[in-house]
Amino acid sequence: MRDVSSVPAPSGPLTSRNGAAPPSLARGALGESDTRPLRPPMECKSGRVGLGVIGAGYWGAKLARNALQDSSLDVRYLCDLDADRAESVLGDYSTVHATSSIEQVLTDPSVDAVAIATPAATHAQVVKAALTAGKHVLVEKPLAARLEDAVALVRAAEERGLVLMLDYTYCYTSVVNRLRELIRGGGVGTLQYLDSVRINFGLVRHDVDVLWDLASHDIAILNSVCPEGAEPVAVAAHGADPLGLGRISVGYLSIRLANGGIAHTHVNWLSPTKIRTMIVSGSKRTLVWNDLDPRQRLAIYDMGVQVPSGQGMLPADYQLGDMVVPAIPEEEALGTVMATFARAIVHGDQPLTDGRAGLQVLATLEAAHQSMRLDGAFVPLEPHDEPLVRQP
Ligand SMILES: NC(=O)c1ccc[n+]([C@@H]2O[C@H](COP(=O)([O-])OP(=O)(O)OC[C@H]3O[C@@H](n4cnc5c(N)ncnc54)[C@H](O)[C@@H]3O)[C@@H](O)[C@H]2O)c1
Repeated sequence: MRDVSSVPAPSGPLTSRNGAAPPSLARGALGESDTRPLRPPMECKSGRVGLGVIGAGYWGAKLARNALQDSSLDVRYLCDLDADRAESVLGDYSTVHATSSIEQVLTDPSVDAVAIATPAATHAQVVKAALTAGKHVLVEKPLAARLEDAVALVRAAEERGLVLMLDYTYCYTSVVNRLRELIRGGGVGTLQYLDSVRINFGLVRHDVDVLWDLASHDIAILNSVCPEGAEPVAVAAHGADPLGLGRISVGYLSIRLANGGIAHTHVNWLSPTKIRTMIVSGSKRTLVWNDLDPRQRLAIYDMGVQVPSGQGMLPADYQLGDMVVPAIPEEEALGTVMATFARAIVHGDQPLTDGRAGLQVLATLEAAHQSMRLDGAFVPLEPHDEPLVRQP
């Protein structure tokens, strides 16, 4: 690898919650306390990080474009089972090799790392092959289609001292960075509820349901913004399969927070209207994120509801004030994802969405499936010592 010590720090945070590994489930899943060593920075021998992008479909094309724009990355390959697809993504004048052979990518010593954007059901196999070949891995969400496969991948990466990072893209957006600052910095006051809607006529995936496809974004965001003391502790899920696919395409998650608050997520592949909103409410402020409105992506309402102490339920104290629309930089989050991945490889920085954060999301999804089998009952998210290998 060539010298990349000048890789600029990305704008998003680099460490997991509070600078430590995501707690509870992910650690329990590995059957150990969080004693893993921080990975030391790599010695850079030859400059940029040699990268292979695997999967040249809808999202892989975006990964490739962002990787090509990052000067710390040297994109060597774009690999797809359909080599013509890889070639058409690259265009006529690219020096990047298009190939259908993952083996060619993984056996090339100039490749230090891979970015994987193949369908979810293939992640376990492709990520395992890459880690076994000694490559650092950035993989699309979800980490795997089953929690037990994901546990094995995290263990394999940690045993080999390799970076395993998840592309939970929203966690690297300027808006989510701002939400995190406002929530964790006390700007919203006591966190009361989060309410998100992620619906449209979406791609109906053949390997995972709508929770694994879409709600995984909301869970990852939630895990990355909730402060200590208000973390998710239990999940209840409801869903429907109106198309008779054998997996739900409309889903609702309710997630209890440790402080008594609640988060709710509605995901749907079948809605003719596209909505991407999240409301975050606290005792001091309410934040409204509309990802489809570039003129007012985030609105901060100086408004909260408190019940004055000693007065019982009513009258509530409605604090009404100004609404502010902060200037949020319009940056492509995938650029930050790529820069974060490069810095994790070169400097040993722990990415916000590392393998354990990916496990945390999958553990919540598997608990959601358990809840659906229990007719929507709340399922706790804190098994602690219990080995966490539930079947979906
Ligand atoms: N982070 C995000 O916001 C986001 C958005 C969309 C999709 N994704 C994720 O990206 C991944 C891919 O989704 P997509 O919409 O691009 O799918 P897609 O079907 O458009 O593309 C997948 C590509 O992978 C190729 N492929 C399959 N198996 C392969 C293998 N073993 N080796 C090499 N190539 C292989 C296919 O030929 C296809 O071209 C999924 O995991 C999805 O969840 C993430």
